[in-house]
Amino acid sequence: MRVSVFGLGYVGCVTAACLARAGHHVTGVDTNADKVAMVGAGTSPLVEPGLGELLREVVDAQRLRATTSAAEGIAGSDLALICVGTPSRESGQLDVTAVERVAQEIGRVLDQLRKPYTVVLRSTVLPGTTESVLIPALSSAGEREGLSVAVNPEFMREGSSLRDFARPPLTLVGCPDARTASLLRELYTGVEAPFAHTSVRTAEMAKYVSNAFHALKVTFANEIGDLCEALGADAQEVMRVFAMDRKLNISDAYLRPGFAFGGSCLPKDVRALLHAARTADLAVPVLAEILPSNERQIQQGIARVLATRRRRIGVLGLAFKPDTDDLRESPMVRLVEGLIGKGCDVRILDRSVSIARLGGANRRYIEEEIPHIASLMCESLDPILEHAEVLVVGNGGEDARRGLALARPDQAVVDLTRSVGRSR
Ligand SMILES: NC(=O)c1ccc[n+]([C@@H]2O[C@H](COP(=O)([O-])OP(=O)(O)OC[C@H]3O[C@@H](n4cnc5c(N)ncnc54)[C@H](O)[C@@H]3O)[C@@H](O)[C@H]2O)c1
Repeated sequence: MRVSVFGLGYVGCVTAACLARAGHHVTGVDTNADKVAMVGAGTSPLVEPGLGELLREVVDAQRLRATTSAAEGIAGSDLALICVGTPSRESGQLDVTAVERVAQEIGRVLDQLRKPYTVVLRSTVLPGTTESVLIPALSSAGEREGLSVAVNPEFMREGSSLRDFARPPLTLVGCPDARTASLLRELYTGVEAPFAHTSVRTAEMAKYVSNAFHALKVTFANEIGDLCEALGADAQEVMRVFAMDRKLNISDAYLRPGFAFGGSCLPKDVRALLHAARTADLAVPVLAEILPSNERQIQQGIARVLATRRRRIGVLGLAFKPDTDDLRESPMVRLVEGLIGKGCDVRILDRSVSIARLGGANRRYIEEEIPHIASLMCESLDPILEHAEVLVVGNGGEDARRGLALARPDQAVVDLTRSVGRSR
């Protein structure tokens, strides 16, 4: 394929060189004449293992050239990859000026050339940037025929970027149409990675989620390291065995957006760790924010129900997850208490809890600790559906699924699981 790469920084140089190695014909474009001269001469403008040798190889093979002229880059290609910088402003706000400028330049050239063209944004941008900055800048005159746009975030790490380019964790392409997705699939034919085609906003956001999670992992591991030291445990060994658990620890478990956590272990154990940290005079700000963040989810849930301005509430699912009768520290119990406190008339259905009430292990807890809630329990779906102006889905059990399937159109639904209600 004939490709232009706008921005010859870390991402652009590596992308240009690796695509040229894969057999594509690449033109690198940068406003910085020194970088262009270096890349054009087959030397690397930055320190990155293996990049100098690769640049020389692909420039000698005449598969990579460099220019300061956007027109030259576009004329010699059918697809542009935008790899310009998106730095932070002083406030932390993302600065997308370079993306806007380069898109305006590409748009001006396309105005003259009038050929079908694909523009792919590889720089890291927040969701909505493609729609509100890139596309308008590319086509200030309105819709441009023959123009396709996609987002294709880069997952390489400096220092190992040639290896990462060849074997990234995934190839992610966000675009509305299958044709552009398959064009990019073809561009990356030699790349060993699963291919994900998503919406533009998903692709934009996924890059931030990845980087935020990586940052969280580092700070989490460092705070755990500090705690281990304070408590006399070997941090490296602890994290080694922690990472051996690929079911719950290093996996997609607990990573689905839903409602607050609860139960008899997580809140108690986080509190115990925080107490140990305080006793050791150790600051663990990430760990310390877990419970306040969880509490915020509960308060948001209450606010969402109250925002319906209806007061007759049917709650489907009371335990912190389906198929358990354990109500200790259930966030749904807290939510129900909050709603009752605001004058709501609540009825609850959770069959696992109902069975426990009749004689299970948690009967005493239910009757002695939360009698005010036990008295609101229903035994079947009908009375809840009859009573409720608002149905609140507390966990993803069978009751919730059936309840939502039978809900009347006039009943509002607040789905705290963020998933059961989607299939409604
Ligand atoms: N560096 C990384 O490891 C990495 C990894 C993944 C994603 N990213 C993202 O990729 C993007 C690029 O990062 P980088 O580190 O390569 O940036 P960089 O600052 O090293 O390079 C950006 C290049 O763009 C050029 N440029 C600016 N305006 C231009 C224009 N109008 N036309 C042509 N060239 C222009 C600059 O001269 C510069 O050479 C950023 O959004 C970054 O967040 C970076």
